Amino acid sequence: MTWKEKYGTLALIAGASEGIGAAFATQLAAAGINLILVARRPEPLEKLAAALREQYVIAVDCITCDLADPQAAQQLAAATSGREIDVLVYNAALSYIGPFEKNTIAQHTQLANANMITPMLLTQLLGEPMLQRGRGAVILMASLAGFQGSGFLAAYAASKAFDRVLAESLWYEWRDRGVDVIACCAGATSTPNYINTKPQKTSLFAPVVQSPDEVVSECLRRLGTTPSFITGTGNKLASFLMQRLMPRRSAVTIMGDNTRQMYRL
Ligand SMILES: NC(=O)c1ccc[n+]([C@@H]2O[C@H](COP(=O)([O-])OP(=O)(O)OC[C@H]3O[C@@H](n4cnc5c(N)ncnc54)[C@H](OP(=O)(O)O)[C@@H]3O)[C@@H](O)[C@H]2O)c1
Repeated sequence: MTWKEKYGTLALIAGASEGIGAAFATQLAAAGINLILVARRPEPLEKLAAALREQYVIAVDCITCDLADPQAAQQLAAATSGREIDVLVYNAALSYIGPFEKNTIAQHTQLANANMITPMLLTQLLGEPMLQRGRGAVILMASLAGFQGSGFLAAYAASKAFDRVLAESLWYEWRDRGVDVIACCAGATSTPNYINTKPQKTSLFAPVVQSPDEVVSECLRRLGTTPSFITGTGNKLASFLMQRLMPRRSAVTIMGDNTRQMYRL
């Protein structure tokens, strides 16, 4: 059975115009899946959509929407009502690097909305019709940062733990009802967003950087086989050492030290 036969013909990608989101769009387009691409800036979205329409025989629609808006999930559900969305990829995330207390209440609220509330509500709003049809898939992007406390990434890391646990829980609830859910726990990935943070390679524990295509290929392969997975061999190994062999205190300290050095905090 092809990916399209198993999951359906239309995917909505939230956070689609760059990096991992654009790689999801491109790989799903190559599998013949029609797309609804969502992001804040219309120009990069339209550019990607035009390129995909030109290269593949698929329909691509674009919706500009700020996923940090508390009404974002409802707005997207309304904008797509009447269409059968078979696959939801929630990729967008806000991340603030630095001391927790330096962020404003508004920034923390936006991060919580974009990284937790909107994906949770969108999963419900788009997932319920998938359950009724007995077919579909939900992919939530999580992160290695969410496996333990990660100093100087506190709110981001906590939100990514939320995404992983949400996806794993729904994997269990929905697996016998035709809807596969997975958390894709990426490590450092060479997206424009990551490159713009200007990370310095500083220690043995500095992350191995993957390409967005590598992350997405592995995710599309693993969907339906596991509640969550860690991308790449280097990340799997680092996670095994930190989660299974080290005391929690050491794992948290390594993450914090590493971020502090990478960003000269
Ligand atoms: N990159 C890494 O190293 C890394 C590591 C671990 C986990 N991850 C996870 O992978 C996912 C992608 O990470 P990334 O930051 O590198 O991004 P990315 O894949 O480069 O995607 C960013 C996309 O999301 C859109 N976006 C961002 N904020 C948005 C908002 N508030 N509303 C609507 N669209 C929004 C951006 O377009 P606009 O700016 O136009 O809105 C862009 O299309 C995240 O969930 C992240 O937690 C990434």
